[in-house]
Amino acid sequence: MRSDHNKFPQTFLWGTATSSHQIEGNNQANDWWDWEQAGKTGDPSGIACDSYRRFEEDFDIAQKLHHNAHRLSIEWSRVEPRMGEWDSEALRHYQQVLKALRRRALEPIITLHHFTNPQWFSKVGGWENPHAPMWFERYATKIAQILGGDVEYWITFNEQNVLCYKGYIEGEWPPGKRSVRAAYRATLHIAQAHIRAYNAIKSVYVAGGWKVPQVGLAQHCLHAVPSNPSSWRDRFAAWFRKFMNNYFFLDLLQHDQYAWLPMLLGFGGKMKTLDFVGINYYFREIIQSAKWALHPVSLAGEVDTAHPEYVACKKNDLNWCIHPPGIGKVIREAHERYQVPVIITENGICTHDEQLREEFIVQHLQEVKRCIDDGLPVFGYMHWSLLDNFEWSIGYSPRFGLVAIDPTTQNRTIKSSAWVYADICKNYELPNARDKDKIS
Ligand code: GAL
Repeated sequence: MRSDHNKFPQTFLWGTATSSHQIEGNNQANDWWDWEQAGKTGDPSGIACDSYRRFEEDFDIAQKLHHNAHRLSIEWSRVEPRMGEWDSEALRHYQQVLKALRRRALEPIITLHHFTNPQWFSKVGGWENPHAPMWFERYATKIAQILGGDVEYWITFNEQNVLCYKGYIEGEWPPGKRSVRAAYRATLHIAQAHIRAYNAIKSVYVAGGWKVPQVGLAQHCLHAVPSNPSSWRDRFAAWFRKFMNNYFFLDLLQHDQYAWLPMLLGFGGKMKTLDFVGINYYFREIIQSAKWALHPVSLAGEVDTAHPEYVACKKNDLNWCIHPPGIGKVIREAHERYQVPVIITENGICTHDEQLREEFIVQHLQEVKRCIDDGLPVFGYMHWSLLDNFEWSIGYSPRFGLVAIDPTTQNRTIKSSAWVYADICKNYELPNARDKDKIS
């Protein structure tokens, strides 16, 4: 019998994260659909996991796997398919989704924006349009009213950093721009949209007399270290990469009066619009300064794929370097910087090797547990992802799911790693090395 200090807190949220476009299927009214039809992705999303219709089946699986929470996103282009026009069938659908989660005692964590924009929004300039924050606020208000009262955890944006980098600097995602100026405008408008949505959700709850909600966002956080620690150029490149990814945006939203960056960008005064920070953590990068350090795509550095530690580290199918201590690092740094509770909103691995996925889950959760043991307020872990799904520009080849999908029958098959995670969720406790061998 193990003692209770091995346990995660009884209030800990266990679950998986998904996003509408990656699983629902036939999201024909958003910008990604257009992008796919133009042949810019490995595969088109098509019917995806058909989860718009099969969500009850998916939640049954989550329940069976002892999850007590579930992160999912609302598809803006479904609920507002034309500017200012609400689709009542889609709104009802998400109310049904919420009820289905509640019936299975799965705590909903709702993301309002997970990369996709309605086509009408993109056509008028998307995030570069100065009215964008106001349109997003209107959408957030509508969803809070429709689902409100029954949702405690709200995530306004998923990975603004990835969206702006890939969509506005690298040009690999919609809108396919390569412009620092456009990326900058989009970033500022998304920051304003978050602030408006934060206040709007709070106001809707006050008006409804509902329990105070927790509003935050999910940020892609990486752990970056210099390839050669005695080179100032490598040290700068690693710092800059981490700063741009992990902190630049959050600093705008959660700062004290005299923070230099927000002041510089015109976000004056005290700003605290994060009740929690959601961390999406996948990998560590070993960074060397780039030859073209000032080129915006390089963000001052590049991954040193010849570094012995990079060569030696275990990798996922996309060659991302797996480094479990990194999740502890980013949790500690985010908490120290922003002084709010933290939730892991995504962490996962694309692999065909189930043993590797099992190790990945256990080892990352060990690091999360260490943070909790050190007194850090980490209140949940959402594994990415429940199902094998549509991985954006790459298409369907990466397998991040705890559950496999047969693309022709849409049959769901639970993988062995899902049971390892289920056991942890059930017991609020990690298997020790000996126990791990017993789990199958
Ligand atoms: C995140 C993203 C997810 C998923 C995941 C795996 O950056 O939020 O939508 O694609 O990466 O790559």
